[in-house]
Parts: sequence; structure tokens; C-alpha cells
Amino acid sequence: MSLIVHIIVAARPNFMKAAPLYRELARRDWCRPVLVHTGQHYDASMSEVFFRDLGLPEPGHHLGIGSGSHAEQTAGVMVAYERLCQRERPDWTVVVGDVNSTMAAALAAKKLLIPVAHLEAGLRSGDRTMPEEINRIVTDAIADVLWTPSPDGDANLLREGVPAAKIERVGNIMIDAFELQRTRIEAAGTPGKMGLAAGAYAVVTLHRPSNVDERDALSAVVETLRAIAQRLSVVFPLHPRTRKQLETFGLFERLKSGTGVVLAEPMGYVEFMSLIRSAACVVTDSGGVQEETTYLGIPCLTLRDTTERPVTVSQGSNRLVKVAELAQAVAQVLNGAWPKGRPIALWDGRTALRAADSLARFAGITPSSG
Ligand code: UD1
Ligand code: UDP
Repeated sequence: MSLIVHIIVAARPNFMKAAPLYRELARRDWCRPVLVHTGQHYDASMSEVFFRDLGLPEPGHHLGIGSGSHAEQTAGVMVAYERLCQRERPDWTVVVGDVNSTMAAALAAKKLLIPVAHLEAGLRSGDRTMPEEINRIVTDAIADVLWTPSPDGDANLLREGVPAAKIERVGNIMIDAFELQRTRIEAAGTPGKMGLAAGAYAVVTLHRPSNVDERDALSAVVETLRAIAQRLSVVFPLHPRTRKQLETFGLFERLKSGTGVVLAEPMGYVEFMSLIRSAACVVTDSGGVQEETTYLGIPCLTLRDTTERPVTVSQGSNRLVKVAELAQAVAQVLNGAWPKGRPIALWDGRTALRAADSLARFAGITPSSG
């Protein structure tokens, strides 16, 4: 017996979650994993580079959806994925994370009675102005199997009425991705190649609408980063949304001309993690980067009012910071007054293994048939 398992990938943060699970499922003889790329992210630096970096094969299917409004993107994925499922009916659909494609593929599959597993289930920021929060709530309400990274995920789901039998705490798959690439990351030498000394620079990644879609908010970020860059180099690989907004608001040159500001293209995974692991600190609004910095013990300053990853604050090296507090927070980091954090249970590089075992149980695979 070989079950077809679609793994949906769409946007940058999906690839490092899908890769370890794809690899693990491909080793099981009861299962044939197939990558389905929705095309939400399409620039080579936001998609293709991760296939090379993470050892992913070409997607089995490409839906070619591209950019659009929320409804356009969600509807586009639903229509295209429904057609695909009608042509090649998978036995399971696995969705990861919280992007529009995650929710759209889950909805399309469920309505065709295809069981859905959600990897990274249960995260909640409590902020429904974030599109991702809507995607999380909808996906978790309909998924058949909910794989959580931490106990807060289980608690959120139980509170929303998800039956305990559907929830399995498998840990954080991002750590699997890092451990699988650790040797290459440690050998990559990104800081040296950029002329930076280890521990003497900050890395910035920002792309949330709350930070980049309004002129005043983005302008405050630009001015603050210019000020911080007077003390230590600020390396900022620009997400395409952020680059576009900087240009639209006429802020690009202002940021670029700051002394100590180093703007870069979005980086591949290995190159980027090599930069992160030797940073003095990271300023971000990314979900994944909050987790990666906690795992590596790198001070993380998250420019948001809430986080759906509270363990990175309660146990890790992450703190929520407002833009007006950012320069002060960086000074604290440089004075050594920043929490180091401690290891988090099940963030151990074995999450893909637990998720694959869990899928086998839910799919009714017995050891003799698997
Ligand atoms: C999306 C996800 C977000 C995730 C982020 C990771 C949703 C609602 N948002 O945000 O949760 O944290 O990806 O990076 O699903 N663009 C390009 N090239 C690309 C992709 C996008 O130029 O390859 C530009 C387009 O102008 C596009 C804009 O970026 O309109 C936004 O892209 P989109 O996928 O809608 O949202 P992200 O901001 O990337
Ligand atoms: N990342 C990368 N290159 C970059 C920025 C990010 O490889 O230039 C990786 C990093 O591993 C991060 C992941 O992409 O955890 C997710 O990025 P993003 O911030 O786009 O998405 P989010 O986690 O906020 O949904």
C-alpha cells in the first residue's frame, strides 16, 4: 500500500517546514509524498533557492497562483487545488504554517473529504487584524490532525473545542531544517563574505503589513535603523513587499544612505542562517526568525505588539519591542543585559520523525503494513 500525501508549499516560510517532513515521509514505504507548490511566492530568491538549499525535489505540481488580494489569492489556490485533487486524489493533504495558501488548500481538500493534517497548528497571536491569525483559526477548525510545536498550541486548540484526540505535540519542525543543514550553515561564512565580523552586526527582517504598509510606521523604522547603524552595522535583506513599500514611500534611498546600513536581496536559507548565527542581535517581525534565534540563543527584538510564539519570550531570547524602544533595546543587548533563554522541549530535530509516525497512526498503517 502506498498512500499519496500532498504537502502544500507556497511561500518562503513553508519550504523549511516541508523539507524535513518530505524527507522523512519519502523513507516510509507506505507513503508517497508529493510536493504541491501553489506559486504564492515565485521570485527565485523567495522560492527556487530553497529547493536547492533544503534538498527538495521539483514540485510534483505547480498551481502558478502568484500575487493578488487576499480573496484573489485564496480563491485562486482553492480553485486550482480542487481541480488537482479531482484529477489526482491524494489520501492526505498536509498543510504547513499560516499563509493564505495553507488555509485555501485545507478548505479545498476538506470539502472533497480528503483528510487534512496541519503542521504548526495551535499558534495564536490573539490579533485578528493579522491575516495569518485568520488562516490559523480556519485551518485548525477543519483539520483532522493538528501537529503542535509547544504546549500553548495544545491549550489554544482545546480552548477552541478541538477534540484532544486530533492533537499531537510533535515539536518544532524549523529545528529539524536547521539541524539537517547545520554543517553547510557552519561552513557558509556569510558574515566574512559580506565583510562583517562575527558579533559586530545586527540582522533585520521585516515584512508584516503593520510595519511596512503605512508610510509613518515604515518611516519610523527607517529612522530608527539609521540611528542604530551608527553603533553597529545593520544588515537588512529586503523582503519584496518591504522593498516595494520603501520605493513607493520614497524611503529606499534614505535607508540605503544610512552609515552602517547594508541592504541585501532576500537570502537563501543556508546563507541567511549563517548570518543569523553570528549576529549580535536580530530585529524582526518574522515568525520563523523568532524561533530560530531562540534555538540559537541569539537576542531577538520582535517589532510587534503580540506573538503567536510565546515560548520564544517566556523561555527564549525573544522580546516584543516597539519601534520607539528599539534603540534602547539594542543598547541593552550590547551591554550584555539580554536574556539568553533555555532549550525548549521537543525543539530537537526529531519533529519530522514524530509527525510521520503520527500520520501513519492516523492513516491506520500498522507496523506490518508499513
Ligand atoms: C506572505 C504571508 C505571510 C508570510 C510571508 C513570508 C499571507 C497572507 N502572507 O506574506 O504570512 O509571513 O509571506 O515571507 O499569506 N512578491 C514578490 N515576489 C514574490 C512574492 C511576493 O515580488 O515572490 C511581492 C508582491 O508585490 C506581492 C507582495 O510581495 O504582492 C506580497 O506577497 P504575498 O505573498 O501576498 O504576501 P507576503 O507579504 O509575502
Ligand atoms: N529566511 C531566509 N532568507 C531571508 C529571510 C528569511 O532564508 O532573507 C528564512 C528564515 O529561515 C525564516 C524563514 O525564511 O525563518 C521564514 O521567513 P519569513 O520571515 O518570510 O516568514 P514568516 O516566518 O514570518 O512567516
